[in-house]
Amino acid sequence: MQTCIYDLKTQYEKGMDEAARAIQEGELVAMPTETVYGLAADAQNACAVEQIFLAKGRPQDNPLIVHIDRIEELDKIAFANKLAEKLAKAFWPGPLTLVVKKRPGMIPDVVTCGMDTVAVRLPKSAYARELIARSGRYIAAPSANISGRPSPTRASHVMEDFLGKIPIILDGGECEVGLESTVVAVYGDKPVILRPGGITEDMIKEVAGEVEISPAVLGGLKEGQRAASPGMKYKHYSPKAEIVIADGSTRRAIANATGILYDKYSKNSKVLILCSADMAEFYDSMNYKVVGKTPEDFAHVLFDELRRADEEKYDAVILEAVKPVGMGLAVMNRALRSAGFKVVKGDE
Ligand code: TXA
Ligand code: MG
Repeated sequence: MQTCIYDLKTQYEKGMDEAARAIQEGELVAMPTETVYGLAADAQNACAVEQIFLAKGRPQDNPLIVHIDRIEELDKIAFANKLAEKLAKAFWPGPLTLVVKKRPGMIPDVVTCGMDTVAVRLPKSAYARELIARSGRYIAAPSANISGRPSPTRASHVMEDFLGKIPIILDGGECEVGLESTVVAVYGDKPVILRPGGITEDMIKEVAGEVEISPAVLGGLKEGQRAASPGMKYKHYSPKAEIVIADGSTRRAIANATGILYDKYSKNSKVLILCSADMAEFYDSMNYKVVGKTPEDFAHVLFDELRRADEEKYDAVILEAVKPVGMGLAVMNRALRSAGFKVVKGDE
């Protein structure tokens, strides 16, 4: 299959028209959003949605997010309670996904994997909203990566995984946030964060009065434990390079981690350290790359750097741990999964 790539800066009208038509015809389109690129299909076309699972190699029990372009659509596909409405009003359009009770007959079971809830999101990206509006459909879209790989934050990442496999990629440049949306279950009386993201714990608390964080956010699931959000039980965000997290006294932790990795791969192995600006001076003789100053900076480049590490044939990448609050919680949630929960400590 030939993949047409439209640069939305220069080919906006043609790209949008072709993409909207493809969606209407039950085909897959990679679309930019403010979080990561999505692999989009008509959410009410079960055959089209099945293609998403096939193309990604996605487990059949991991439900998809339904993207809408107007807040009023929420109530058409779900029974939105007061809490859902409050959060939607406060943070939509934006990187927040609400898990709500499904209204029967609206969204097919393939999208929700037979669950009685549905995840709904109104993205901030004007490109994503235009595609939804122009196609006149609700759009089911997981991140546009092969399952298990780091999520795509640039069109080139989507090309790595899907060139020749889907008909259209819309290139909207680099994604603003860089990590996927915050997923919050709101069908009870208290919001529960299932996956942290750009809308933080504090932001939700300010609107809802209270918020819970699912224990699976920073921990793995124990054998046999049921996942509130099925996506959390799968290996995720993994490049070919081995990922290790350095935590505690960072210099010690890095020394310990490099020691372990050199033992494993030989002294000549290629090990990269992704670090914050204020630690860079300590890594003088080592291979390091500054990812910025804040957790937001880290979030913005994390997936891009993991993919680049493979391109540059690194054996391993050491990630400096960040404080798991605010956007840092989202960064650590992804980092821990990409590292398969491998954390090397440095004693204080
Ligand atoms: O930012 C994002 O959310 C991106 C862009 C493309 O919008 N999409 C995205 O989709 O990250 P995906 O499929 O990669 O992640 C969706 C997450 C999964 O962890 C899935 O298990 C969870 O949302 N999810 C979907 N429906 C759910 C439901 N009914 N209950 C609980 N979790 C659900
Ligand atoms: Mg994903």
